[in-house]
Amino acid sequence: MAVSQAELVDAWRKVLALCKVKPEESVAILTRPGIQLRNLEAAHQAFEELGCQVYQLEPQIRNKPLRENKPAMAALQQTDFILDFIGLHLLRTYELGMITEKGARMLYVTEPPEALVRLLPTQADKKAVCDAGVFMKAAKSMRIESDAGTDLTVALGDFPVLLEWGYTDEPGHWDHWPAGFLATWPNERSANGVVVLDAGDIIFPFKDYVRSPIRLDIREGYIREISGGFDADMLRAFIEEHNDPEAYAVSHLGWGLNPRARWSALQWLLRQTNGNDGRSFAGNFLFSTGPNTDAGGARDTLCHMDIPMRNCSVYLDGRAMTHKGKVLA
Ligand SMILES: [Fe+2]
Repeated sequence: MAVSQAELVDAWRKVLALCKVKPEESVAILTRPGIQLRNLEAAHQAFEELGCQVYQLEPQIRNKPLRENKPAMAALQQTDFILDFIGLHLLRTYELGMITEKGARMLYVTEPPEALVRLLPTQADKKAVCDAGVFMKAAKSMRIESDAGTDLTVALGDFPVLLEWGYTDEPGHWDHWPAGFLATWPNERSANGVVVLDAGDIIFPFKDYVRSPIRLDIREGYIREISGGFDADMLRAFIEEHNDPEAYAVSHLGWGLNPRARWSALQWLLRQTNGNDGRSFAGNFLFSTGPNTDAGGARDTLCHMDIPMRNCSVYLDGRAMTHKGKVLA
């Protein structure tokens, strides 16, 4: 499903319009070696057509945190719109907050051109995510259940709600094209119950589908036991190899709302995707493990797994948000 450069540039034009990028605004493009060059080229063309003053920055971040690069930080803090091909949020550093708190709108892009065009965000995507966010922000509890055996309850309210609708049109807002989901973090030590990953659920960073059920017994916020066959052994080994008790914690929880995102994409994009089809497809329950530092918590660990699950029902304070993998209005 290859897309032409013309289609790609058109998608960039539309996203920059959704992001309300104006000719008088300053624009930064953050790059690193190995990014999708077609995206970079198309972005430059769309910015040029708009008449924006663009500068491109390729900071060396492997050995030193970006915040120690004073000229780069000063420049980014004065920039209106930042297109991030690096994934600053993935570095789990303070830089993202230091930059966006000055009002910069920041958009992260890492998916291949095909996914960008197919999952071009819309204002309806934003409305769906924000509408669901109203319920999530007010909720004191979340419960998730499935026929496969999942029955997990968590308390909410201590951490913020993350809304990702695929573009950034508000000062200080960070987003990811493509996206379309919401999440929040359970109160510390409040997650209790069982999560059963079933065949077809997806494990990141493995970028693979679960083939056989994995049972996770969760008490007081942490996975206490992982049981099942080969898939369970693999998951257990991966977490164990981090030698970090915090790796067993329950992290952000939420659900997907993007009707164009496809559960099957990982298979036919042949793993070239970073996985936002999987994280966003409508009706998934996105379970995750590890840190809560990006929500302002103190739980810091390098082991983070995103696990989109199918066929789950999600309840906020007893009210159904999804039913067996389908989003309720
Ligand atoms: Fe995550």
